[in-house]
Amino acid sequence: MSKLTLDRILQSQGFGSRKWCRELITDGEVTVAGAKVTDYRQLFETDGLEFTVYDEPWLYREHIYIALNKPSGYECSRKPSHHPGVLTLLPEQFTWRDVQPVGRLDHDTTGLLLMSDDGAFIHAQTSPRRHIPKVYVATTDTPVTGALIEQLLSGVQLHDEPAPIAASSCRQLGDREIEIVLEQGKYHQVKRMLAAAGNHCAALRRTAIGKLTLGMLDLDAGEWRYLEQAELDLLVPE
Ligand code: URA
Repeated sequence: MSKLTLDRILQSQGFGSRKWCRELITDGEVTVAGAKVTDYRQLFETDGLEFTVYDEPWLYREHIYIALNKPSGYECSRKPSHHPGVLTLLPEQFTWRDVQPVGRLDHDTTGLLLMSDDGAFIHAQTSPRRHIPKVYVATTDTPVTGALIEQLLSGVQLHDEPAPIAASSCRQLGDREIEIVLEQGKYHQVKRMLAAAGNHCAALRRTAIGKLTLGMLDLDAGEWRYLEQAELDLLVPE
């Protein structure tokens, strides 16, 4: 439990500089628990604090953990160069709070992307030592064969990698559709593995991280939502 002044609270939640947050408050644009507050020095208990800014409701969150159903055509980089960044799909407060993608998906890859402003969480999720399985569904240029699956499971040699890399599991979903589960997060890994096995990835979607599936989140492309603790608990190694 901690008490903070209202200007600090707004600043911590991504509403801009302290000076700007003070102006918002003195201008009467902020309410707390239904009542307008114009003294920015007023103290509030942050835990569970509900407030509005410009009539929009917010709940105080020490950190943000969200899932986005990433559409194609967005870059995960913080300084995107050829396509808009995924942060443009979120409220601008999240950029001020330094919310970042947890790992990266290519601009043309769709599906489950976690985002957070909690550095320890991002580090734990992306650490190669944790072996968190990530599930991808790839559409291939040529039909999926038993030989392709065998190669992906036994390991393919990627350029610049010291040893062959294998999928932890693989199954055919359709004539040109394959589910691939990986425990590493190497650059363009699925696309490069499919190419090394003699096929080509025409489209790629991430459908799960750990036991958290895109299906259970019920998000259309471009939609996001906060993750509950029970959902975060699913992001663990098998
Ligand atoms: N593998 C890829 O090739 N691309 C991604 O975006 C994710 C995994």
